Amino acid sequence: MMKEILDNKDWFEAWFDTPYYHLLYKNRNFEEASFFIKNLVTHLAPNDSDYLLDACCGKGRHALYMNQLGFNVDAFDLSANNIAHAKQYENNKLHFYQNDIRQALFNNKYHIVFNLFTSFGYFDSEADNMLAIKALSNSLKQGGVLVIDFLNAQKAIENMVDKEDKIVDGLTFKIKRKFKDEFIVKQISFEDKGRKFRFEEKVKALYQKDFINYFNLAGLKLFKVAGDYQLNDFDIHNSDRLILFAKK
Ligand SMILES: C[S@@+](CC[C@H](N)C(=O)[O-])C[C@H]1O[C@@H](n2cnc3c(N)ncnc32)[C@H](O)[C@@H]1O
Repeated sequence: MMKEILDNKDWFEAWFDTPYYHLLYKNRNFEEASFFIKNLVTHLAPNDSDYLLDACCGKGRHALYMNQLGFNVDAFDLSANNIAHAKQYENNKLHFYQNDIRQALFNNKYHIVFNLFTSFGYFDSEADNMLAIKALSNSLKQGGVLVIDFLNAQKAIENMVDKEDKIVDGLTFKIKRKFKDEFIVKQISFEDKGRKFRFEEKVKALYQKDFINYFNLAGLKLFKVAGDYQLNDFDIHNSDRLILFAKK
């Protein structure tokens, strides 16, 4: 039974591996990813021969566009189904791997490492967050850049909608949100083909100061903060995103 197997996993291992995550977030598509990557590449101006890493790549929407721009791209994700899907796009300059963010895929290989669309802050323990940051830092060449695209926790908490029904392709997702014990929690329930499902997203409310601490401990230095995918300046009350740029 799918439900019982999923119950033994960490929430992030279970939820992102289902087709329902991709249905609920279907507006987070290739178009959005290419818009963001275009702006990041314009800003960071990597060389054509540079190596880029997309850490927690999902089905590979950002990695695919980086590769279409001509870069050498590796990408990884914990979800076996996501990586199986992404592998159809592989070529000699684009490779996908199943890997946990707490483990560096390759050491000192990459000029830029990306961690995009709130793919951080899932762990209960700070030790695991540190392992993840250190692994991302270990993946970078000296002088390389880490880009983390996180949610703006302040705005997410200030504007939290407690309850919402979202209908996507005929499926009603019943969503409940709360802020509890430093985590922004989203409970997602729905029924499909007579079966009831319930998943949870749980992201730690991390702020710029928390990332600066992580970066200091991992040999990284923050040099820019943006607040949206156009890379406008970050504003704690109005920005949807907290996009951090740190140099090794
Ligand atoms: C919110 S999704 C974003 C995916 C992708 N970056 C995108 O924008 O489409 C978060 C991703 O992180 C992956 N993930 C969660 N925990 C992970 C871990 N411990 N190691 C590697 N990937 C992980 C999930 O499988 C999921 O694909």
